[in-house]
This record gives sequence, C-alpha cells and structure tokens, in this order.
Amino acid sequence: MNIVVGVTGGIAAYKAVGVVRFLVRAGHHVQVIATEHALRFVGAPTWEAISRNPLGADLYTDVSEVRHVALGQRADLVIIAPATANTLAKLAAGIADDLLGNTVLATRAPVLLAPAMHTEMWENAATRANLATLRGRGFHVVGPAVGQLTGTDSGAGRLSEPEEIVAAGLALVQSARDLAGRRILITAGGTREPLDPVRYLGNRSSGKQGIALAEAACARGAEVSLIAASVDEALPTHVRSRSVGTAAELAEAVHEELPATEIVIMAAAVADYRPVRVSETKIKKEDRGDTLTLELEKNPDILASLPPLATPGQIIVGFAAETARDRAHLLELGRAKLARKDCDYLCLNVVGWSDGFGADHNTVIMIDRAGEIRAEATGSKREVADAILDVLLAHPRPTP
Ligand code: C5P
Repeated sequence: MNIVVGVTGGIAAYKAVGVVRFLVRAGHHVQVIATEHALRFVGAPTWEAISRNPLGADLYTDVSEVRHVALGQRADLVIIAPATANTLAKLAAGIADDLLGNTVLATRAPVLLAPAMHTEMWENAATRANLATLRGRGFHVVGPAVGQLTGTDSGAGRLSEPEEIVAAGLALVQSARDLAGRRILITAGGTREPLDPVRYLGNRSSGKQGIALAEAACARGAEVSLIAASVDEALPTHVRSRSVGTAAELAEAVHEELPATEIVIMAAAVADYRPVRVSETKIKKEDRGDTLTLELEKNPDILASLPPLATPGQIIVGFAAETARDRAHLLELGRAKLARKDCDYLCLNVVGWSDGFGADHNTVIMIDRAGEIRAEATGSKREVADAILDVLLAHPRPTP
C-alpha cells in the first residue's frame, strides 16, 4: 500500500519514527511528509533512512511531478502523527500552505489523525471545534492517550503508541471500501415549486444529510449518483451529481436512474403539493387585494412509487422528518409511514422550528420493514450517514 505519514511539529514526532518503521517492516511504501516545525524535532536523515524514501517537506521540490497533489492522489491511507493543535486548526480551515496541507486536500484516501498536545490545548474550545469539524468531514482519530506529557505534567494529550496508530490506520483501509461496486442513488435537498418567475414554495432542507451520505458512500467505494434538489451547498466534485428543481423533475430523474441502481436513499424533502397554476409574470399585490389564495395539487409520492417498480434485491430507503412530541411518538409516526410507503427502511428524525435543518449534526432512528429499530445514530451528518450505510451493508443480498 502507498501510505503517507504526515509528521507535524511536536515533541512526539520522535514516536512517529516507530510508526514509519512498523509500516515499512510490514511491506508498505511509506512517504513521509514533515512540516517545517517537525524537522526542528526530528531531522530529514532520520525520516529518509527509516522510510527508505526521499522526504517530502518542501512544496517547491519536484514541481514538474505536480507533487503537491500527486502524493495525496496516490495514497491509499494518510496518517498524521503527531497531529498538533495547530495542524488540526489548519486542516479544519483547509489551509494548504505546505506540502502536507496540499496532500490532505488532494487525497480521497482515509485520513487518520493521531493528536498530541498538552491537556489544556487538547481541551481548548478551538481544538474541540476543529476536531468536530474534521470528524464531520470523515477524518478518523486515534487517541490521544492519557499519561505522562513532556515536562512534569500528565493528562490527556499523549500520542497513542505507534502500534496502536498503525493498527487503527490499517483497519481503516480494510473496512474503508466495504461498499465497493455497490450502486447507490441518493437524493438530497428540498424541492422548490414555482409560483411565478421569482417565487417558489420550498422547505428548509439544506441537503447536508444527503450530501454526507453521498460522500460517505463514495469514500466506502460505492458508485454514487446524487440528485440534488435546490441544494445551496457546494456539491462534492468527486460524486456524479445532477441538479433538479421541482418534485416532478426529481421524480423523472429518480425513475430514469432506478433500473441501474441497487440502493435508493430518498433523503430529499419533497414538496407534497405544488401550485395548480404557475403565473407567467410576477404576481402583483396591486392586482390581488388583501388576501391571496393559492390552489395546490398533490405531487406524486416518489418514494411510494418505487417499491412496485423495484426488482428483487433493490433496497429502497426513505426519510421521515417529523414534528414528533417524543421518541415514542416519532416511532409511531415512522412505523405508520413505513407501512404506507412500503419501503425497506425509514430513517426518522425530529424536526421543529429550531431542530434538524441546516445543522451539521443530526439524530436519526432507522427502522426496517417490520418496524424494528436497526440503528440509532447521533453525531455529525457524516457519522449518521455511516451508521445508515452500515445497516444497508448488512442487508441480505439475493444469491446470484
Ligand atoms: O410523506 P413524507 O413527505 O413525510 O415522506 C418523506 C419521504 O418520502 C422522504 O424519503 C421523501 O424523499 C419521500 N417523498 C417522496 N415524494 C413525495 C413526498 C415525500 O419521495 N412527494
């Protein structure tokens, strides 16, 4: 395997020598990328001798090989050990002012962070927020351990032991591609039904959960097709995606892609009704008086239309955002909806004036056809996405 080991400027850099040594001994090709500060602790000759490769340190060496992206593109795994508080902050902000920052931005391989710093820095709100951001984007974290730190103090912040870092990194690669070859269609966002050339009826879905599902599935090796309904977020460039506006357009896109899909995840919030008439010109209050009545007609229920069309082995997953009073009420509403829609799974979450929409976190209960709870996940939308995908991975497949 091609493994990049990023070393950043902390005293624990000396322990990263052990990480590189283990990986090389296990037969991997290891490219060390040390930051300028890391080299103040452990010098280039050590990294080159231990990794048996020229060190990556400078952004402006071997420019003709486009190394600032090539190392990340070629990597099967990136391990950053130690990851200092400064590095976590830079990665969270997407800063690419050195070779390591560029490599991390350019890679699609799993990235494992092994933080090491003093307890105060580890517990600092800035570090906590940066780490939460990184976890939300799919970065993995090992440690830090609790124990003796540099100097006389001890506490949380000690770099995990090299063996543990190596084991965590290799486990990521083994489990990382567990959806390889599976074809997944994901809808995200919320449909908008035009009223006139400048107005629409819409909903508050941001599309973040659908995008997180697409990114997680893609990272796990699936062939993903994302249909984004009026998503303002940037769509992931490495996922095949198309944009739609109305429920009718979404229905057409989903039906077109259904035959080539094994799993359909309907995370989009679809308008149940649309205006009967769409005005060709802007609706003017001067023409309408004090009240305006809109006549609406039902949109097709896309999710409910899929099970009768599904071929054996296709898995249909719906979402249900409910203004439920409590968990029991949410489950009751969810089970009734699942029966109505006849899908294989339904992912339930509570929404309200302040919950659910646009946030980076989510809480989802996933139920199956029998109404049984198959997963309960709270965390970043990426973590919730992975929990949902874990259930789908365990879904029995028809024998060929
Ligand atoms: O009935 P409700 O809108 O609560 O159902 C939500 C689920 O159904 C979501 O998965 C959504 O994508 C899907 N849906 C649909 N077509 C509609 C309404 C909802 O596919 N017209």
